[in-house]
Amino acid sequence: MSKGRKNGLPKHVAIIMDGNGRWANRRAMPRFFGHRQGVKALKTAVRYASNQGIAVLTVYAFSTENWTRPQDEVKFLMDLMHKTFVQEIEELRREGVRIQLIGDRSTLSPDILKVWNQAEELTKDNTGLVLNVAFNYGGRQEITKAAQRLAEQVARGEITVEDITPEKIDTLLYTHKTPDPDLIIRTGGEMRLSNFLLWQAAYSEFYVTDVLWPDFGEGDFAQALQAYQARERRFGQVSAKEQS
Ligand code: IPE
Ligand code: IPE
Ligand code: MG
Repeated sequence: MSKGRKNGLPKHVAIIMDGNGRWANRRAMPRFFGHRQGVKALKTAVRYASNQGIAVLTVYAFSTENWTRPQDEVKFLMDLMHKTFVQEIEELRREGVRIQLIGDRSTLSPDILKVWNQAEELTKDNTGLVLNVAFNYGGRQEITKAAQRLAEQVARGEITVEDITPEKIDTLLYTHKTPDPDLIIRTGGEMRLSNFLLWQAAYSEFYVTDVLWPDFGEGDFAQALQAYQARERRFGQVSAKEQS
């Protein structure tokens, strides 16, 4: 990057949509209420990203660890995801959004898998925003799965140990068709990744806001993009300000 030049728009923005439960608690409402509001915030974010010309939006909707929540909350989240995609698919298709599920499909219910497959099939030729929904997603699970596949390939003699490179590993991740996230936004104030995009986040810029996910609107999204644009990304190099 040349001296003083700012970043353009991020190509890939990833969001850890956190704080639904606290949002509801503050209103003396059950956590479910916050999740429902969270869907509204998600719709706003998808529309905004699409209008801004962001190429890829990845949202963390359910982690491999979220199964440990009380059973009624897990069930609610599964049903909400199912219902939301049934309701929204047509509009997303019309808006040119291409939907992809990233996560472990093997433990999802047939009902959920059915809507996902339909959503992916129906939108596969769309050329607008790519929307990756991380659902039953865990970074460690994703990397473990890639390691298992590589071990199988070596055992079968299809590749040698030397063929295992970062680029090769990349091809075995759920996100292999999309560039790494330039910007990761986390709402709800926690400064951690919670098993999100562990490999892909190597050089992502982080932006954490105390705003709880159901309150996250276009203005908050715009602020995150502005903060990103003012950052200097160095990728291990010496600062551009010190060069020349
Ligand atoms: C994020 O909000 C949504 C999911 C993890 C599904 P939370 O449910 O984690 O809300 P808080 O963090 O308890 O407020
Ligand atoms: C991360 O939020 C997962 C999602 C937003 C889907 P959590 O609420 O599960 O994360 P922790 O438990 O606070 O780290
Ligand atoms: Mg949380």
